Amino acid sequence: LVTKTLQNDLIVPSWNQFCQHMKEIYEICKDANGGKVADYIPQLARFDPNLWSVAICTVDGQRASWGDSKKPFCVQSVSKAYNYAIAASELGADLVHHYVGQEPSGRFFNEICLDTHNKPHNPMVNSGAIITSSLIKNEMNMADRFDHMLNEYRKISGGEYVGFNNAVFLSERATADRNFALSYFMKENGCFPPQTKNLAEALDFYFQLCSLEVTCESMAVMAATLANGGVCPITEERCIASRPARDVLTLMNSCGIRPARDVLTLMNSCGMYDYSGQFSFHVGLPAKSGVSGVVIVVIPNLLGIALWSPPLDEMGNSVRGVQFCKELVNRFNFHNY
Ligand code: DON
Repeated sequence: LVTKTLQNDLIVPSWNQFCQHMKEIYEICKDANGGKVADYIPQLARFDPNLWSVAICTVDGQRASWGDSKKPFCVQSVSKAYNYAIAASELGADLVHHYVGQEPSGRFFNEICLDTHNKPHNPMVNSGAIITSSLIKNEMNMADRFDHMLNEYRKISGGEYVGFNNAVFLSERATADRNFALSYFMKENGCFPPQTKNLAEALDFYFQLCSLEVTCESMAVMAATLANGGVCPITEERCIASRPARDVLTLMNSCGIRPARDVLTLMNSCGMYDYSGQFSFHVGLPAKSGVSGVVIVVIPNLLGIALWSPPLDEMGNSVRGVQFCKELVNRFNFHNY
């Protein structure tokens, strides 16, 4: 970053001006009313609806944030994007897609349904996320698997805050009837890998990953790692594979697995629940939201954005988060198409 600054070679040279726009959009969205804080578990319902933060990180590591950007919250469904990227990096996207499709489901995120091949529709809905996480390091014990993922998340966040909220985990597990029903349905249909012997453990792992905690600032670095093709812009460490891993390829005799690109493609088509098509139409950027009110938005080769505000619209997306994205593409030509 220092070298690039001295050489006047930064990806966003007019940083102060850009940040001024970001601040203005932040302020406009602050006044937004409406939406409802998720209340299906008490730990989420306790969040103040006025909490609102924006954090940005460029692929050069230029950073800025506004509002409650150091306050921790759970990643919830944003974990689905990273779990997929990690699974695809470790196992190859072809193996992951042997178990999970690539098609928007057009159904609620937790609906009990499979595609025409009897697979979950995609890794961004609950069914697909449960199966995707069941593929990761499933030869290890639960403690080692959790440590492994915490470690991977911390690499992706450049060592910035990633914690674990045990209260959220416990209440997710205590209110998991739908996810259990979904998992038994998938077991009946042979969706799990042969290594998965214990459904309760598979669900625990999925809930633990939903209960990982970040701040808007650490989440922005995680988004920037996706913008930067899988390399963390703060540490310059490769965290997500960008090209076919040769040994995995030879083993599977396949081609074209690029997890860092694949995850953005799936976020573009499936990342914003049943609003994904409209979001793609209006905003045109890969994004993923979670029930805690977080939204990550990725501008490939430029910027990662993390937005956090607990009130959700009827689709389950953060009201202020979606408004911010629309205002952003009104001001800047970031729409991909
Ligand atoms: O599985 C659940 O109920 C939640 N932990 C899912 C989290 C979430 O953000 C909802 N999204 N798809």
